[in-house]
Amino acid sequence: MAKVNITLHINGDTYSVAVEPCRTLAEVLREDLNLIGTKIGCGTGDCGACTVLIDGKSVTSCLSLAVESDGKEITTIEGLSTKGDTLHPIQEAFVKEGAIQCGYCTPGMILSAKYLLDRNPEPTELEIRQALSGNLCRCTGYHRIVKAVMVASKKINQQNGPSKASGSNEESD
Ligand code: FES
Ligand code: FES
Repeated sequence: MAKVNITLHINGDTYSVAVEPCRTLAEVLREDLNLIGTKIGCGTGDCGACTVLIDGKSVTSCLSLAVESDGKEITTIEGLSTKGDTLHPIQEAFVKEGAIQCGYCTPGMILSAKYLLDRNPEPTELEIRQALSGNLCRCTGYHRIVKAVMVASKKINQQNGPSKASGSNEESD
């Protein structure tokens, strides 16, 4: 099958790759670009293990053709920490709260959590459970994952300072 040249902007880097039009983004990330943090569980859109962000929106990359991402901004789990040094607060919370066992679901879980917190910085427990309902975990029983997202939410909000929603403004002299 003829290949198509595409450009993917992933975690701040730009990649030019030639791919068959039938290949999924998950396959290209893992097999062509060695970004193996993205996991393939079911391959049919049911487990969420392959979740990445495309232009800020969470997408199951096993159902997305790589050619559809031509020119788009993609975030995988490898891009969440600052150039691989410091863990993102969501990653940190997953480690501290024991929200990881085998870890297979973890990259997708964390990216779904990031998508939630980017849109809703102070979610309720129910909102977290709803946001992660497309991500399956066979190990943890979910409770620690939900707790980790709540802890991460608090930390991110502390780092970002008072939100506009709280009505806080810096007073001028
Ligand atoms: S591997 Fe994509 S949803 Fe399961
Ligand atoms: S930690 Fe094993 S599947 Fe979630």
